[in-house]
Amino acid sequence: MTDVVLFNALLAALRAAGEPTRLRILAMLHRSELNVSDLTDVLGQSQPRISRHLKLLVEAGLVERIREGAWAFFRLADGTQRSDLLAALLERLDGADPILVRDRTRLVEVRRARAVEAADYFRKHAEDWDRIRALHAPDEEVEAALRAMVGDAPVLALLDIGTGTGRMLELFAPLAARAVGIDASTEMLAVARARLQDAGLRQAVVRHGDLFALPVEAGGFDLVILHQVLHYLDDAARALREAARALRPGGRLVVVDFAPHEHEFLREAFAHRRLGFGRDTVEHWLQAAGLKPTDFRLVGAGGQSAGLTVSIWLARDARMIADQVISVHGVA
Ligand SMILES: C[S@@+](CC[C@H](N)C(=O)[O-])C[C@H]1O[C@@H](n2cnc3c(N)ncnc32)[C@H](O)[C@@H]1O
Repeated sequence: MTDVVLFNALLAALRAAGEPTRLRILAMLHRSELNVSDLTDVLGQSQPRISRHLKLLVEAGLVERIREGAWAFFRLADGTQRSDLLAALLERLDGADPILVRDRTRLVEVRRARAVEAADYFRKHAEDWDRIRALHAPDEEVEAALRAMVGDAPVLALLDIGTGTGRMLELFAPLAARAVGIDASTEMLAVARARLQDAGLRQAVVRHGDLFALPVEAGGFDLVILHQVLHYLDDAARALREAARALRPGGRLVVVDFAPHEHEFLREAFAHRRLGFGRDTVEHWLQAAGLKPTDFRLVGAGGQSAGLTVSIWLARDARMIADQVISVHGVA
C-alpha cells in the first residue's frame, strides 16, 4: 500500500471508529464475535441502524463479516495496519467507563440467554446421545488416550472438523495459538460458541461449513481432528483427503471413530451410515491422502461397554517426514 492510500485508509478507519455507537460496537467485538441480534439486544437500537453501522465498519476494513447459514457474525479484522491501530485504540479505552460497563453487563445477560437456548437444544438431544454414549467406552477414557497420543506440545493452528458442540476445541484449544471448529449444523455451533465463551477460549472460533469443502486455507494447520464424524459420511475417504489438504507439511491428523460393530439400529435411529471402520481401511485412506499413519489405539475393547470400541488413528503429513529424512542424510 502506498503512503497516500495508507493515509486515506487510516483516515477512513478513524472516521468509521469515531462515532459513539460504532466505538461501543468495536469495544464489544474486541471481546468476542457477535451477530446483529446480539448487538441490537445490547445496544437497544433497531436492526437497520446496527446493520448500517456494521456495514460502515466493514467497509472501513475494521470489522469482518462471516456468514453462517442465514446468520452473519462480525469480528474485528486482523493482520492490517488499520487493525493494529484499532487494537491499540481499544486497549486504551477505560474499562470502568459507565457506558462500556453497561454494555458489558448487558452482553453477559444476552449471552446467558443464548446459552439457555443452546442448552435447551442440547437437552432435547441429550437422551439420544446418552443412549449412544452408554454403548461405548467412557468419554474420559477416550479423551485420556487422545491426550496421550497428541501430547502437550504447543500447536500453532488447530482445526476441529465436525466440531459439533466443541468438546475437542475445549480439550485442545488451550494448546493452540489459533483454533477453528467447522460444522454444518448451526444449532451445534450455537452450543459450541457458548461453551468456548464459558471456557474463556478466545483463540478459538467456530465456523459454519461443509467438511467436504472446508472453508479454511489449505496447508494452514498443524493439528487437525475428526472426532466421531466419519461414520455419518457417505464418502469418508474424501473427507480425509480434504482434512489432509488443510495440514501444514509435517502436520498431524487425528481420527476418532468406532471400530467395526453390528449395532444396525444406529443407522435408523441416529443416521449412522457406517457401522465403524477397520484399522486397515482408515490407514489405507490416510495413506492415499498423502499421510503416514504413526500411531493407533483401541479404547474400550473387551471392557464393560456393550460392544462399541473406539479407535484412534494418528497420522502425519508425509512431506516433512520425507524432508527430514533427506536432510538427515545430507541430501539437498
Ligand atoms: C457426533 S457429532 C461429533 C461432534 C464432535 N466432533 C464431538 O465428537 O463431540 C458429528 C458432527 O459432524 C457434523 N457433520 C456431519 N456432516 C457434516 C458435513 N458434511 N460438514 C460439516 N459437519 C458435518 C454434524 O453436524 C455433527 O455436529
